Amino acid sequence: MTTKYLLDESRIPTSWVNILPDLPGEPLPPLNPGTGQPAGPEDLTPIFPMGLIEQEVSAEPEIEIPEEVREIYKLWRPTPLIRARRLERALDTPAHIYYKYEGVSPAGSHKPNSAVAQAYYNKQAGIDRLVTETGAGQWGSALSLACRLFEMECEVFMVGVSYDQKPYRRAMIETWGGTVHRSPTDLTEAGRSQASHPSGSLGIAISEAVEIAAKSPDANYALGSVLNHVCLHQTVIGQESIDAMEMAGEYPDVVVGCVGGGSNFAGLIYPFVRANLRGGRTTRFLGAEPAACPTLTKGRYAYDFGDTVGMTPLMPMYTLGHDFVPPPVHAGGLRYHGDAPSLCALVKAGMVEATAVRQTEAFASAVQFASCEGIIPAPEAAHAIRATVDEALAAKEVGEERVILLGLSGHGHFDMSAYSAYHAGELEDLEFSEADMDEALGRLPEAPSIA
Ligand SMILES: Cc1ncc(COP(=O)(O)O)c(C=O)c1O
Repeated sequence: MTTKYLLDESRIPTSWVNILPDLPGEPLPPLNPGTGQPAGPEDLTPIFPMGLIEQEVSAEPEIEIPEEVREIYKLWRPTPLIRARRLERALDTPAHIYYKYEGVSPAGSHKPNSAVAQAYYNKQAGIDRLVTETGAGQWGSALSLACRLFEMECEVFMVGVSYDQKPYRRAMIETWGGTVHRSPTDLTEAGRSQASHPSGSLGIAISEAVEIAAKSPDANYALGSVLNHVCLHQTVIGQESIDAMEMAGEYPDVVVGCVGGGSNFAGLIYPFVRANLRGGRTTRFLGAEPAACPTLTKGRYAYDFGDTVGMTPLMPMYTLGHDFVPPPVHAGGLRYHGDAPSLCALVKAGMVEATAVRQTEAFASAVQFASCEGIIPAPEAAHAIRATVDEALAAKEVGEERVILLGLSGHGHFDMSAYSAYHAGELEDLEFSEADMDEALGRLPEAPSIA
C-alpha cells in the first residue's frame, strides 16, 4: 500500500493557474480610495514592480513560471502528497484522506512559493530591498530567504504578539539576512497611531510596511497573501495535487484548507475550481478559519482597505472592518480582517464553503494528527485538520467512501509554546466580539455597495 505520492522534479508546473477569467459575474475592480475610481497601475507602481502589477490584473488563463523561479522551486518542490492511513484508522472512517504537505519548504510552509516569485520580479525591475509584514513569521522568513537567494535586502514588520511568542522565527529571518521590527513600532506614522494596540495585527503591520516602501525609492513592498498575484503563485500546490492524486488513482470529493488571507487555500483549490467549471467535476471546497477571526463566516461583503490605517486600494471582500483587531490567537497567520477578493467572490457565489474552528478544537485535532501521522502542524494548518476530521466523521456517519484532500500548509516547529500552553490546559478560546466588529464595520470607507 503506497503512503507517499512523489512527483519527479520535471513535474513542477511550468505555468501558474490564473482564476480571474473564470470568476463568476463582472469582475469587481479594486478602487482608489481618494477618487472612488478603479485603481490603475499608477496606483500600484510606487510599491510593486510592473511584472507583478500585470499579473494582478491579467486575464490570461495561465501565466508562465520563469525558469529561474522553477530552478529555485526545485529545492523543495514537488512537495509530497501523503495518504493519512493512520488517521483514517484512528477515526475509523471509510473516507480516504490525503494531505499535500507544504512544510517541506526551507521556511516550513507554502509561503516561499510566492516569496521567490515576488523577489524575482522585483529584482528584474532593479529593486534591491523589499519591505513586508509577517503574522506567524512564516511569510517574513520566506521573504527573507527569497531575498537572500536574489541578493536583496529584506525588512520585516512582525506582529507584536507573534514577535513575543516566536523568537526563533525572528532568528530565522535574521539568519537569512533580514531585519525584524516588533509592530507596532515608532518608526512609522502608522505604527505610532496604533500604539494603543501593543499586540499588533496583520493590518497594522501591513500599514507600516507600505508606508516605508512608499517613501523609499529603492524599496518595494511585498504582500504574503490576499492579492491576485500571490494566490496565482500558490497554484503550484493545486496543480501538483491533481497530478499526484492521479498517481493514487483518485480525485477529491472535497478539498479543505485554512484561510488567513486566503493564498494557500486559493492555490490549493483554484486548479480544482477550474476543473469544476470547465471539466464538469463536482468537488466541494471548504475553507477553515478561526472562530476568533471569522471573516468568511461572519464578515460583511464590502469594499474595504487591506490594511488598518487605510493606505491600500479598496478591495471587494468579506471583512470584519479594517481596524478590527482580532484577539491574539496562536494561529497568527489567520489573524486578518479580510480575505483574498478572488476567494471571497467564489464564497459569495456559493462555490466555496467556509467553517469557523475554535483554537482548542484545532489543537486537539493537531495533536491527534501528530500522533497518527508524525508531523506537528502549524496552528494555522490545525484549523484545516479539524475541518478535515469533521468531514471524515460525517462520511462515516453516512457510510460514504469520501475522498478528502487536505492542504497541510506548514509545520509547527516554531509554534511549540502554543502546544505547551495546550498541554498545560492553558489554551483558551478567545472570544470574537460581535460588538467590536459592528463598530469596525461602522467605519468602513465610502464605496459602492456590493452586497
Ligand atoms: C502555516 C501557515 N498556513 C496558513 C497561513 C495562512 O495564510 P494564507 O491564508 O494567506 O495562505 C499562514 C500564514 O502565515 C501560515 O503560516
